[in-house]
Parts: sequence; structure tokens; C-alpha cells
Amino acid sequence: MEAGKWIGISAGRENKVTEKAVKTILKASGEDYDFYSLSSFEILSCDGCNGCVESHQCVKDDQLNQMSEAMQQAAGIVFGAPEYWDGMNAKGRAFWERICFSTRHNEYFPLADKPAVLIGISGDGNSAGVIEDGIEFMQDARLEIIEKIEIKGEYACFDCGYGHLCQVGGLKNFYDLPVKAEEIERPRLAEGQLEEEIDYAGIRAVCARFREVEAEVCR
Ligand SMILES: Cc1cc2nc3c(=O)[nH]c(=O)nc-3n(C[C@H](O)[C@H](O)[C@H](O)COP(=O)(O)O)c2cc1C
Repeated sequence: MEAGKWIGISAGRENKVTEKAVKTILKASGEDYDFYSLSSFEILSCDGCNGCVESHQCVKDDQLNQMSEAMQQAAGIVFGAPEYWDGMNAKGRAFWERICFSTRHNEYFPLADKPAVLIGISGDGNSAGVIEDGIEFMQDARLEIIEKIEIKGEYACFDCGYGHLCQVGGLKNFYDLPVKAEEIERPRLAEGQLEEEIDYAGIRAVCARFREVEAEVCR
């Protein structure tokens, strides 16, 4: 990974709403970036074993350390996670538990002051639970949160085959069920809406500021 690149991380399903949102923001910011989907590999949770105290590296061998290193090299971080039962999904939490624990011993904090964008995706559009959890983790890692965004996602119930009938599924939030399958409209990630809601200029300004600081340090 080249120094100065931004890094995008999605804790959502592969090529679904969270991933699209993270990539949309990175593309629009005009910055070079690398993208990681946590759906491409298993992320184990933190056992609090203290194995990372001296090395700041987790003892578990599942790509977490590789991602931690990439985050430390990055100019900034765009992280998105879906809401599962009113909070950040388990994959996102497992990721942050281990990033935060392995990097904080003896006040190491290698991510301190790095700019970060936090995205919460939820079926009903109220992603407050993800945002709250994300703030907790990012602040613990001493990241500088420059933007928090809530986006309406797409329930897996749209694809299960029974969503148009199921009285306890996500489509119940939008329709009086049962509804004919062909009458269902999928809520799509509206890029126009994203354009309005996201302060891309602010993100670009932070990137420019970071490059200036980097240039001064290298001089
Ligand atoms: C197990 C599970 C639990 C969910 N819980 C909630 C919830 O509490 N509130 C909500 O608004 N959406 C909930 N959703 C919907 C997801 O947030 C939505 O499908 C989102 O688009 C998933 O992100 P992705 O498309 O990037 O995978 C849940 C989805 C799943 C699979």
C-alpha cells in the first residue's frame, strides 16, 4: 500500500449497500484508496488475552494485523458497518475490539489524529446504534471523526423469497403484508441523496491538509 492513500473498510455484505457507500465516498473524494471488505475473511473476536501488550499485534492469525498495519499507513479511513439489532454488526464490533485493544497498550495509539469517516447502514434508515458504537471505538483509537453518515440500506428479506409474505421480516416496515412480489420496490442507495448529505469538500480539505503536514514532516 502506497503511503498517503485512504483506506475504505466495509463490515457489510459483499458488494451490497455498505460497500457501495464506502466506495462512493472514496471515489467522490477524488483520493487514491485501497478497499477492504471484512466479508472476504473471518474476523475473530477479542479474547482479552493480553498477547498484544508488547507487540501491539494480535496473536490471532486472520488478517487483522495486516489491516491494522494498512490503517496505520493510510492517510485516512472510511469505515462503514450495517446495523444489526440496533447496534453495529458483530463483524464490525469484532474488528474494532481487536484494533482498539491491540493498539492502545502503554498509550501507543498509532491511529491518533488520523481523519475518519463513519458510515452506518440500516434497513429503516435510522442507523443511530451503529454511529454510537462507531464513535465509541473511533474515539478510543484517538481517530479524528470528520463525518458521520446514516444511510438507508436494503433488508436481506428482499432476497429471501418469502419477504413479501413474512409478518416478522423487514418488508413489514414498508408494506401492509401480504404484498405481490412484483409490487415491491427495493430502496436503492441514492447517489444523488448521498451527494447532498456528504461534505465531500470537507473530506477533500482534510486530505489536502494531511498532505501538507506530510510534506512538512518529510522535508
Ligand atoms: C441479522 C440482521 C439484523 C438486522 N437488524 C436491523 C436493525 O436492528 N435495524 C435496521 O434498521 N436494520 C436491520 N437490519 C438490516 C440491515 O441493516 C440492512 O440489510 C443493511 O443494508 C445491511 O448492510 P449491507 O447491505 O451492506 O450488508 C438487519 C439485518 C440483518 C441481516
